[in-house]
Amino acid sequence: MSAQRKLFVTTALPYANGNFHIGHIMEYIQADIWVRVQRMLGHQVNFVGADDTHGAPIMIAAEKAGKTPQQFVADIAAGRKPYLDGFHIAFDNWHSTDAPENHQLAQQIYLDLKAAGLIETRVIEQFFDPEKNMFLPDRFIKGECPKCHAKDQYGDNCEVCGAVYAPTDLIEPFSALSGAKPVLKSSEHFFFQLSDPRCVAFLEEWTQDGRLQPEVANKVKEWFTVRTNPDGTTSEGLGDWDISRDAPYFGIEIPGAPGKYFYVWLDAPVGYLASLKNLLDKRGEDYAAYMADPALEQFHFIGKDIVTFHTLFWPAMLKFSGRKTPDSVFVHGFLTVNNGEKMSKSRGTGLDPLKYLSLGMNPEWLRYYLAAKLSARNEDIDFNPDDFMARVNSDLIGKFVNIASRAAGFIHKRFGGQLAAVSADGDALLSHLQDAAPGVAELLAERDYGKALREIMLLADRVNEYVDQNKPWELAKQEGMEARLQDVCSACIEAFRLLSILLKPVLPALATQVEAFLQVGPFTFDSARTLLGAGHRIQEYKHLMQRVDVKQLDALFEPPAAPEPEATVPGGEELAPTIGIDDFAKIDLRIALIVNCEPVEGSTKLLRLTLDVGEGKHRNVFSGIASAYKPEDLIGKHTVMVANLAPRKMKFGISEGMVLAASHGDEKAQPGIYVLNPWPGATPGMRVR
Ligand code: 2FM
Ligand code: ZN
Repeated sequence: MSAQRKLFVTTALPYANGNFHIGHIMEYIQADIWVRVQRMLGHQVNFVGADDTHGAPIMIAAEKAGKTPQQFVADIAAGRKPYLDGFHIAFDNWHSTDAPENHQLAQQIYLDLKAAGLIETRVIEQFFDPEKNMFLPDRFIKGECPKCHAKDQYGDNCEVCGAVYAPTDLIEPFSALSGAKPVLKSSEHFFFQLSDPRCVAFLEEWTQDGRLQPEVANKVKEWFTVRTNPDGTTSEGLGDWDISRDAPYFGIEIPGAPGKYFYVWLDAPVGYLASLKNLLDKRGEDYAAYMADPALEQFHFIGKDIVTFHTLFWPAMLKFSGRKTPDSVFVHGFLTVNNGEKMSKSRGTGLDPLKYLSLGMNPEWLRYYLAAKLSARNEDIDFNPDDFMARVNSDLIGKFVNIASRAAGFIHKRFGGQLAAVSADGDALLSHLQDAAPGVAELLAERDYGKALREIMLLADRVNEYVDQNKPWELAKQEGMEARLQDVCSACIEAFRLLSILLKPVLPALATQVEAFLQVGPFTFDSARTLLGAGHRIQEYKHLMQRVDVKQLDALFEPPAAPEPEATVPGGEELAPTIGIDDFAKIDLRIALIVNCEPVEGSTKLLRLTLDVGEGKHRNVFSGIASAYKPEDLIGKHTVMVANLAPRKMKFGISEGMVLAASHGDEKAQPGIYVLNPWPGATPGMRVR
């Protein structure tokens, strides 16, 4: 074995505003396999994750849910375990970017960057919501697209025509939070000066020295010459990075700048370090000493959508705060289901991981399938149910698991569980497997999982050819072939063990079962250098893995039952389209005293109301409430009226407004009209808002 490596490994920290979707699980499985490979090679690994808790979207979601942001993210964190345990994702620690370690580390990194002369303040103008009293993130400003005039588009780009622009370019912008018209307001922001020649020189070297995947390095290279501005125009070179946000903001306060917080993306990757520190503290190990070890290697698994943060901002933050920079960043593509839509962060459609588990589907089927599709490149991969079933049933079960089931019964029943010496043909097979093992381990260590599994399946094919040539089930019936039967079955068990060793990072739970069945200690890759040998006893074989049943896949992709439409339509009527506060403000509602009320001759529906809205004169209003009220019951009562409705000429006279009353959408199903009546104390003319 090569010298023991010391590795610090992370996956991207998920926003604490929703449950994991299959895209998260894929990344965690990819990283978990790699970590297990490194451990099986004898290396030392710390593998950590955490919730990414800060930022405006989480703050707003918490407010909507009626929770404090802290409570909101704690509730999300509480739901993580079933996913991680369920798919055998063995993080050494799971922490939070809102934890004290992260506050402290982020503030210190900032102070170090400031001391290095890389923090600058600038006054910038941004949209501000005067109702909510807060600056609006681009995603919370909507309006009409300046290019194609589509309504209701976000502040950063148009989903209809794809135009990219600044929020200030929107026509008739409004706050998605309050509906208010945003106003431009200036405020001082803090910038990390990525355009500083020191940063540029460092990043040009760091990103192009071969540590990154070639396709990633090439993409990053473009950013050194040209960048896209918020308004869609382009500028030369790296731009400075706005790292501050104004209160109210759920985040970490900037030292020495009351009311200013770090933008979530500043403290998010610091969360990697905070989770590691928390882990080491719990173990009584020294974080500073661990990080100071020049032998330490640091790797981040991430998706291709967050490359900028991890290849520009994050290494520069670390470098110029005097810290260790990552050795590499491993970028993967997106996962689609059924060639369907991208597994977006906000909308994890398609394959619900918890539903998968609740249907009794084996988590290792998914690990195997995803591994079979993954490579070291950042290509997108697709989950295809038919392909999934074929790979699991034909390859994993048909080619691999069946080897054990075909041989173990004879060893157990006929030979008391004891293995025999393997003769030359079996030996040749086993040598072939042993010789191939280091190459497979290397492919796994290079994250070329798909290729590694193809190699393993080719090896399994060889074993199955050996079984078919020797037909143990026929040997078992032939007289005088006892020794040969034991020899062949022993070779099969030995081969099965070698394949299990290679598959262990992908199928850790199955490997544990195999270790118990073969009565051996935990496999490492070195275990493949030796054989069990003649005389070794194994346990009785118990079936190791079920096949995928098509019914499970059907159930997995069956859309959740649509709710009964009646149940969701309030008051028998669909809600009207959303309006902004401005629209609502146009309607002037006032308290009115019903001074007089009388029937209308010639109408069974209408009553004539004489109303006092505190104007020093009375209004005449017709209202269709005759079926529900006797005139004398209404006189002297207060109600609410639309006071600025244009007067309407009706058959019986002019109506100067409208009285508010409630009724069900389906009058026949639920008859009744209910005039609104304010609580005591309201007096004529008061506005209702
Ligand atoms: O894109 C995301 O989901 C972010 N929450 C990832 C953060 S990774 C790291 F920087 F914390
Ligand atoms: Zn548009």
